Amino acid sequence: MSSLSQNLSKIFGEAFTALGLPAALGAVRVSDRPDLAQFQCNGAMSAAKQAGKNPRAVAQDVLDALEGHAAFSKLEIAGPGFINIILDDAYIAAHLQVLGADEQFGVAPEGAGQKIVLDYGGPNIAKAMHVGHLRSSIIGDCLRRIYTFAGYDTIGDVHMGDWGTPMGMILSELTLMGHTGPVTMELLAEIYPRASASCKEDEARMALARAATKALQDGDPEATARWREFIEVSIAGMKANFDALGVHFDEWKGESDAHPFIESMITDYKARALAVESDGALVVNVAEPGDKKEIPPLILLKSDGAVLYGTTDLATIIDRIQAHNPVKIIYCVDQRQFLHFEQVFRAARKGGMVRDGRPELVFAGFGTMNGTDGKPFKTRAGGVMRLEDLIAMGLEKARARLEEADIAADLAPEEREDIAQKVAIAAIKFADLQNPRHSDYIFDLDRMISFEGKTGPYLLYQAVRIKSLLRKAGLGDIAAAPLKQSILILDDVVRPLALLLAEFPDHFQLALENFTPHVLCEYVYRLAQAFSSFYGSCHILSEPDEAVRAVRLALCAMTYRQIEAVMALIGVQIPERM
Ligand code: ARG
Repeated sequence: MSSLSQNLSKIFGEAFTALGLPAALGAVRVSDRPDLAQFQCNGAMSAAKQAGKNPRAVAQDVLDALEGHAAFSKLEIAGPGFINIILDDAYIAAHLQVLGADEQFGVAPEGAGQKIVLDYGGPNIAKAMHVGHLRSSIIGDCLRRIYTFAGYDTIGDVHMGDWGTPMGMILSELTLMGHTGPVTMELLAEIYPRASASCKEDEARMALARAATKALQDGDPEATARWREFIEVSIAGMKANFDALGVHFDEWKGESDAHPFIESMITDYKARALAVESDGALVVNVAEPGDKKEIPPLILLKSDGAVLYGTTDLATIIDRIQAHNPVKIIYCVDQRQFLHFEQVFRAARKGGMVRDGRPELVFAGFGTMNGTDGKPFKTRAGGVMRLEDLIAMGLEKARARLEEADIAADLAPEEREDIAQKVAIAAIKFADLQNPRHSDYIFDLDRMISFEGKTGPYLLYQAVRIKSLLRKAGLGDIAAAPLKQSILILDDVVRPLALLLAEFPDHFQLALENFTPHVLCEYVYRLAQAFSSFYGSCHILSEPDEAVRAVRLALCAMTYRQIEAVMALIGVQIPERM
C-alpha cells in the first residue's frame, strides 16, 4: 500500500528508465496548480539538461512511452516541459477502495522490529512545570505517536531533572529547617525558591547545598531516603499534569539513572585520551575542523569533581543503548539547548557510542511560546505560568465557549464537562503543534479555543458533525463501514475529497522524516475544509439515487476515520457528540 503519488512515480519512473533515463526523474507530486492538473512530473527538464536535449521533446518521449496507460485520462506538456497529469476516475476509485480497507491509510510499517527512544517532558523535581515543558511534552508525545503508527517500537522517557544541585539545595534546606516529617508538594514549592535564592546570595549556604548534593550522589543512605521521598511526591504531581494533557511516558527515568554509568564512562574516556584535563576540569574537546562557530568542550567533571548536565546526558546514551539498542534517540527540547546537545552528540560519536550512524541522535528543538505581547508567556503578575494553571485556564475558557455557542447545552453535566475537557486539550495541543517546530508562537487562548478558523475545536466540531451524519444514516459503527462499493462513482463534488484522502501517506512521511507534526495539522485542517465544501455542495442523506448516496456516505465514513486517526496522532480525542 502506498500513496497515489508514489504509485504514479513508479509508473513514470519506468517510462523514464525505458528511455534510458534515471527512474528518480519520474517523481510525481500533487500539482501546484489544481486548476490545471491533479499531479505533475517535472523530471523532463533535468533529463533534458543531462542529455543535452529539448525538455519538451523529452516530455513528449515520456508521454509516448505512457500512451494508452489506463491510469491516465489526460497527459499534457505545459510550459518549458512540465507534464500535467489528470487521472482516470476508475484508477482513483480503485486506489481509494484499497486505501479505505487499509487500517494504516496507506502508511507502510517501515519501523517494524526497530526501537526508538524519545526524550521529552523533561520536568525538574521540586520545581513546578512551566509552559516550556508543555511544548516538549506535546511535541514529544506527538512524535512518539507518529513513530508508533509507522510501526516502530517506541519508548517515551520523561528524563526528569532529579540529580543536580537543586536536589542538594532542598536536602540542605530540610536539614536547616529541622524538618523530619513527610515532604509534600506544597512544602517543596515553598522551600525550593527560598533555598535557591539564599544559595545565590550566600556562598556558605551554597557550600551546604553542594555538600548535600555530593552526599546524595555518593549514595549516603539518609540523603538518598529523603531524596526518594520528595522524588515520589514530585512524580505524583507531574503525573496529574501529564494525565490531564493525555501525554504518555513508558519510562519515568531521570538524570539520576545515568549515575551508575558515569564512573566507568569517565575511566574509559580518560584511558583513550578522549577526556583531558583543562583548568582542573575534565573535558572532551568536541570542536571539529569545519565548524563555523566555536563549539566549546563538553565538561564531564568540574574541578570539584561534580558531574554536570552534559555528563548525565552522555551517560544516559549508554544506558539507553544497553537497555534498548535503539535506531534513533530523539530529543524534544527547547531550541536554546541546541549547543548542549551538539556537544553531547559529538562526544558520543567520538567515544564510539554511535557506530555506523546507530543510534542516530536527533535534536528536535522547538521555539518559545510567547504571550500576546510577543514576550515569553508569563502570568498576569509577571511570574512563570505553571502548566497546571494553564490547563485549568483552558478548561475554564472551553466551558464558557460551549455555553456561549450553545453547544452541548442539552447534554448531561458530566458529558458536557467531558466535552469541555476534550475541547480544551484539542485547543492547547493543536495551537502548539500547528506551528513549524522551530518557530516561536503566540499563546492566545481566546483565539485557539474558537470554533472557527484553524483551531482544535473547529476540527472536533467538524468531526462530530460527520459522526452524527453517519449515525443518522445508520452507520454508527464507523469502523465497520468501510468503502464497500465495488464501483466508486466519482464526480466533481466527490473527486477533490477523494484525492485529498489519498494524499495522507505523503504528508505522514514528511512529518515522520522531519519530526514535524505541523504537516499533519495542516493536512487534517485541509481535510476538514474539503469535507465542508463537499458537504455544502451536495445532498448526502437526502440524495435520492441509492448508488450516489452510498458512495457519498462511504466517503464520509472514510473522511471521519482519517480525521480521527490524524487527531489521535496529534493526541486529541473526538467526543461522541457535541
Ligand atoms: N530538565 C531539562 C530542563 O528543564 C530538560 C531535559 C531535556 N532532556 C535531556 N535529555 N537533557 O531544561
